[in-house]
Amino acid sequence: MQNILNVNSAPSMAPLPKNQTASLLQHYLPDTVGQIVRACSEPTDLIAYRVRQALNEGFSPQATQQLLTRINVRPASDQSYTRHILHADPEGRFTVAALVWGPQHCSPVHAHHTWCAYRVVMGELSESHFEWDAIAQKAYLFNKVKRQAGQSVSGNAGLELIHRLGNETAHRAVSIHAYGVDAESISTHVNHVLPWAEKM
Ligand SMILES: [Fe+2]
Repeated sequence: MQNILNVNSAPSMAPLPKNQTASLLQHYLPDTVGQIVRACSEPTDLIAYRVRQALNEGFSPQATQQLLTRINVRPASDQSYTRHILHADPEGRFTVAALVWGPQHCSPVHAHHTWCAYRVVMGELSESHFEWDAIAQKAYLFNKVKRQAGQSVSGNAGLELIHRLGNETAHRAVSIHAYGVDAESISTHVNHVLPWAEKM
């Protein structure tokens, strides 16, 4: 991904504000939380797709704006994208986080240890796709697309979806991500970081 300056591909974890004890997602989008809980009872292969549906249906323009008003006042790193936990399922079935991307911030190239779904809610992200070469033990870039606010993606655990997200614009971008892990595991049990190359 030649256009992305990889300032630092590890996210910063923002602490919860002292006065916030309740889930922001539960506060603004209680029906979406309920829909994600129900999606977690679906067969494993369907969960990510159902969660993506829940994000798409719940994030009305008004709810998105309300949530963004709260997210955008939180401290964000200049060095890397910043992760803010929006909801931690009490039973540990899933966690929802907002990722705040400054200009030129990007993720590592990664697959996932769990299901995942995300929706861009502000700005534009670039998503590069990679294919795993089992012989070379490397992921190779084969495609790159723009994801505008309102677009969403889901993927299952494994090497089927290998991607890298980044903000190649001069403006902040925000995306909402749901993962099938408890909040304590979000830094260690979601991204399966892989070696990669641009060309075979
Ligand atoms: Fe991912």
